[in-house]
Amino acid sequence: MHLGVNIDHIATIRQARKTSYPDPVAAVSRCLAGGADGITAHLREDRRHICDDDMRRLAVISGLHLNMEMAATNEMVSICCDLKPAACCLVPEKREELTTEGGIDVVGHQSRLHSVVERLAAAGVRVSMFIDPEPAQIEASHAIGAPVVELHTGHYANLDGEERLEELARIDAAAHLAADLGLIVHAGHGLTLENTPPIASISVVEGLNIGHAIVADALFKGLESAVYDFKTLIRR
Ligand code: PXP
Repeated sequence: MHLGVNIDHIATIRQARKTSYPDPVAAVSRCLAGGADGITAHLREDRRHICDDDMRRLAVISGLHLNMEMAATNEMVSICCDLKPAACCLVPEKREELTTEGGIDVVGHQSRLHSVVERLAAAGVRVSMFIDPEPAQIEASHAIGAPVVELHTGHYANLDGEERLEELARIDAAAHLAADLGLIVHAGHGLTLENTPPIASISVVEGLNIGHAIVADALFKGLESAVYDFKTLIRR
């Protein structure tokens, strides 16, 4: 099971003050030390968190499995073909959204996405489609030659009780359909320590991308020592 740690929200804290810290790129070695197998970062059209310079610096870290999340725009495809990360994940993007709200509509944009996948593959980038767990989207992703699908778990994460179990069953069925077609299956969005186990238990899921909950947990796990350092300093 591959754990991709999404570092966008380290950059969100930086951008809140437009400072140079915290530097998301400096967080890479800590993530790897904790067991991350790769790093995911989303270069949004509006650069609200990760910036071009972050992505450039991430792309040159030797041996790093970098997954660039991006919209399937000409600008992003050019940047990705230039930086050549190991992987990229195509997501839909709306300027007004707080986070990626749904999967990309591969069915509705099959021919355009086909050429995007071809361009990225020619640059040596392994392309993943971030899709809702729907059979038609999986079949379309397979048809356009994407080697990986990442199943959107955001809806699952927002549900509880019987409804969550139903969504889990939908994700499980989608994951198996994708694996039967020969696709590599990833999952992600909204995963926390509480809701990850059932997703990680789906035998054909080979990778998870987790960001917000890791950064949120890190605040609490590190707050005491951060306060202690300041207290010690001002006491002196
Ligand atoms: N996978 C994709 C495609 C995403 O867009 C995101 C959010 O940027 C994630 C995984 C990680 O989601 P979260 O930050 O909720 O863990």
